[in-house]
This record gives sequence, C-alpha cells and structure tokens, in this order.
Amino acid sequence: MTLLAIETSCDETSAAVVRDGVVLANAVSSQAQLHAEYGGVVPELATRAHLRNCLPAANMVLRSANVTASDLDAIAATQGPGLPSALLVGFQFGQTLAFVLQKPFVGIHHHEAHLYSPWIAGDPPRANFENFQPSVSLIVSGGHTMLVHVTAELEHRLLGSTLDDAAGECFDKVAKLIGLPYPGGPEMDRLAERGNPAAFSFPRPMIHEPNDDFSFSGLKTSVRYFLRDHPGFLNEQPRVFDLCASVQAGIVDVLVTKTLKAAHRLRVRCVTASGGVTCNRALRRELSSACERAGITLRLAERNLCTDNAAMIGVLAERRLRRGNASTSLDADVRPSWTLDQYTNTPH
Ligand code: KG4
Ligand code: ZN
Repeated sequence: MTLLAIETSCDETSAAVVRDGVVLANAVSSQAQLHAEYGGVVPELATRAHLRNCLPAANMVLRSANVTASDLDAIAATQGPGLPSALLVGFQFGQTLAFVLQKPFVGIHHHEAHLYSPWIAGDPPRANFENFQPSVSLIVSGGHTMLVHVTAELEHRLLGSTLDDAAGECFDKVAKLIGLPYPGGPEMDRLAERGNPAAFSFPRPMIHEPNDDFSFSGLKTSVRYFLRDHPGFLNEQPRVFDLCASVQAGIVDVLVTKTLKAAHRLRVRCVTASGGVTCNRALRRELSSACERAGITLRLAERNLCTDNAAMIGVLAERRLRRGNASTSLDADVRPSWTLDQYTNTPH
C-alpha cells in the first residue's frame, strides 16, 4: 500500500510517501525563520506559507520516492488539532487529490500520530509495530504536553495534560525573556549544555501532585521575577548558561518524574516520548537513565521525527487503513480543537 501524507497543523509544511510501513520520503519545510521576527507563529503567515509550499513538498517526495500520483493507494492529512486555517490547507489539498484520483482519503489526529512516532525507526525509517508494547507515552511539544496510556495498538487513554503552558512553550517563553531567538527551545538546550543545572533552584510545578497533569506557567513567571530581582544578570554570560541549565533541569525533572510515576502506577514496562521537546538532550539523557534504573524499555522518537512531520501521519494512516479502522469520508472537515480524550477508537 502506497500513501501520500500531508501535515500542515502549525508552522511546518511536510509531505511524505509511505509504502508498507516504510517511509520512502519525508520532506519538512520549516517556517521558523518566517515567524522569528514576531517571536511566535503568526497564523496568517503560516497559512500563506503552507499554500506556497504544499504542492512543491508533495511533488518533491513523490519524485524522491520514485512514485507517481497513479501509484498512490490513499492520501492522508492531519485533521486536527492545530491552527484552523493552516490545517485547512493540507486537508483540502489531500481531499482534492483523493477526489481527483478516486482514492480513499484519511484524516489523522495529530497527537495520535505523535503517539506512534517512536515506533518508526531505522534507515530507511520503518514502522516497527511488531515490537509494540503497552506503554506510558509522553507527548511534549510547543503546543501540548500530555501523558497517555497506550493499552494496545490504536487503543489509548489520555492520563493528563498541561493546565496552562506546554513544556516547549515554557522553553520558548523563557528563551524570549533571556533574549534568545525564536524558537528558543533548541537555543536553551545549546546554552544549557555549558551551564550548571544545580546553580539555581526553580520550582517543579505539580511534580508531587497525585495526578498526571502538568503546569509550566509558574516556572516561566519565576524566571521573570528572578530577572527582575537580578538586574544586569543577562550581561554575565556564564551565569546565563547556568540559568538555561537550571530552568531546563526543572522542566526535565517534572517531565521525567511524572512519566515514570505513571509507568509504575500502571505497571507498564515501556515508556515512549515524542514531540519537538523530545529533541532536548537533557530530556533524552534523563529519561534514558530513569528508565534504565527502573528496568523499563524506552523508545524515544528519532530526532527528525520528534518535530512535526508527515511521515508519522502516513504511517498511522496506513496502519488504520489496514486494520479497517479509518474514516475515509470526503465530507470530513478539519477539527482544530480536537483533543485526544474526545478521540475514541472510532475515527471521525
Ligand atoms: O512538535 P513541534 O515541532 O511543534 C508543535 O506541535 O508544537 O515542537 C516545537 C517545540 C518548540 O516549542 C521548540 O522550542 C521545542 O519544541 N524544541 C525544543 C528543542 N527542540 C525543539 N525544546 C527544547 N530543547 C530542544 N532541543
Ligand atoms: Zn506536533
């Protein structure tokens, strides 16, 4: 089965060709530079960029996979959640192509695709569902932070999510306070590698609460107060490295502690992690050592599949189609506020 998949939920335009669980081609056109001067994603600009980039991205992956439109058995696109107008570009593109080619069209839940992305690995990347294990899954990015109990393949239950800022948003907002360019997460990661994570003590919000929810806005606010109380601090470069490392340590500590706590409580032997913040080196290191200490298998999404990409959309769409568990209605619309707990095993 050969699929073309499209992802345009936020600020990356991505297309991929997936055949029998193998990612033949995956292209991501990042708009980070376009939004940098505004310090965040501007929906109107994102939508226009998707309109410019969608067809070239699709063309590029088809050519690179040596696949023509007539070889396609299905088209998939992200249905939600995401920026409404951004989602519409990829979704309408996919629906139109499916209509013209008279092939099934599958709308995919963005978070569910992140959820299964750690099972895509290798060169070329391939879905490894034969090794599937029930897991506790951390999805952590700029727009979402959540823990999910995956009880069986395509069966999952949302355990908790952030009550305010996502972890990536916290990285980005703190980076902005420090004066780092957008998106600040990767930059914080880079500077933190040179600092002392124990230099300053920042709060670990909700770390000991008996639930699986998160909250990161207080951590961001405490950095704002810290900078207010230490005028001139940002001129001392080594101290800035320490600040980045200490804030990062707080975020990572909360994520790792709550993930492992959920895994122990639910008695699962596997933890997975995906989403843009999973690129963070300290998070990868700390999750690895915590899982190793606990004798738990860890599957981290590969770095190029952590951030938004169409490969994960295509892999999940194929899986759903093969299991007869995909809605292929061309009447479907985008669902910008679609949360994982509204999503049952029956797609909409
Ligand atoms: O999954 P993603 O591409 O988009 C969303 O769906 O949000 O994640 C983007 C987020 C941004 O907040 C970015 O700063 C963060 O992931 N991020 C990182 C790192 N790389 C990306 N945060 C910390 N360390 C990194 N290395
Ligand atoms: Zn995402």
